[in-house]
Amino acid sequence: DVIDVKDVLAKGYFTYDPGFMATSACESKITFIDGDQGILLHRGYPIGQLAEQAEYLEVCYLLLNGELPNAEQKAEFAKLINSHTMVNDQLRKFFEGFRRDAHPMAIMCGVVGALSAFYHDNLDVNDSKHREITAIRLIAKIPTIAAMSYKYTVGQPFVYPRNDLGYAENFLHMMFSVPADPNYKVNPVLAKAMDRIFTLHADHEQNASTSTVRLAGSTGANPYACISAGIAALWGPAHGGANEAVLKMLDEIGTVENVAGFMEKVKTKEVKLMGFGHRVYKNFDPRAKVMKQTCDEVLAALGINDPQLALAMELERIALSDPYFVERKLYPNVDFYSGIILKAIGIPTAMFTVIFALARTVGWISHWLEMHSASYKIGRPRQLYTGYTQRDFVPVDKR
Ligand code: ACO
Repeated sequence: DVIDVKDVLAKGYFTYDPGFMATSACESKITFIDGDQGILLHRGYPIGQLAEQAEYLEVCYLLLNGELPNAEQKAEFAKLINSHTMVNDQLRKFFEGFRRDAHPMAIMCGVVGALSAFYHDNLDVNDSKHREITAIRLIAKIPTIAAMSYKYTVGQPFVYPRNDLGYAENFLHMMFSVPADPNYKVNPVLAKAMDRIFTLHADHEQNASTSTVRLAGSTGANPYACISAGIAALWGPAHGGANEAVLKMLDEIGTVENVAGFMEKVKTKEVKLMGFGHRVYKNFDPRAKVMKQTCDEVLAALGINDPQLALAMELERIALSDPYFVERKLYPNVDFYSGIILKAIGIPTAMFTVIFALARTVGWISHWLEMHSASYKIGRPRQLYTGYTQRDFVPVDKR
């Protein structure tokens, strides 16, 4: 049941809802979640089917346009994206301003925000053509910027995008090819897994980062700056930063023998079981199921026997039968297994959340487009004031 805010306001009330547990800030046709059943649909299509059968760029097209592309539209869209993968050469100067040991998410916030200085004069958010080209530029350039943020931190030269490669393949090429090895080829198994990881992170309705993009966008702000705000919101360990936190947690636990002791600390609330729990899902996160399956496939294809996978499975096994987790309906979320796959692909831990940001850019910009293509209000939450009532100013010598 939905209570209309007009009825609430007419009675002289407003709602107090810290954390927006029961407040819809917008209408949307993009993504549907049923947290009790563990269902996630993008434009009506189940995430499992999209992850198994669609390529990430098809999912991007779907999120942006509402329908899957036919073969011709798919080819045209890929061509359009490929024609915008390069970044202005001036942008490399922004990278040079960062310390080499900067966290790549800090670099992403800065450099993506800096795109607003490159596309401002002729950007009218009320013009649909301007909005569309903004979406294309962001989806096209974000892998280039993400790979540059990695290359910069390891002190290697930037690698130009190759527009003859697929989206995920091109990203891995920019991450891992080096001038000293002109024969470098991306492993197709890894490119496919990367593409699927992108799909699994593409959108998730009004999470903290998407809500941040909508809120910033509701003021009419430059969209590149809005996406930078989304990246900042994603960075925290309660949101996209959880994938990095999961691997750190597995490192700290070390071996299966230490799992029981660690779980005791979780239950006494000394630590959280990272990669577990979700505001909306009170059942299995459907993305986590596909992620686990992808994890098994990648490790098998690469012949890797990762002890951290055994550790993660043991944590999951205990959690799913322990009353602490059962009563609170805590299940593994999308981040629980993604780190193990990313590690197998060769992605360093500090880049995990960057990968999430890269993949989620389409979700953010789809919501921004949806908001701007209809009438909307500036986002302006109310507050429950708990401070002083009015009092008189006291001169400094009398305080
Ligand atoms: N480990 C241990 N206990 C937990 C966990 C966890 N991961 N998550 C929630 N709980 C407990 C809370 O302590 C709380 O217990 P209480 O009722 O005794 O107070 C109860 O479960 C409810 O948790 P809340 O924090 O109220 O749930 P909320 O919806 O506000 O938070 C969140 C959801 C932030 C995702 C939380 O589950 C969490 O911090 N998880 C770990 C971080 C993580 O994996 N984040 C990724 C989320 S998915 C994503 O962003 C892509």
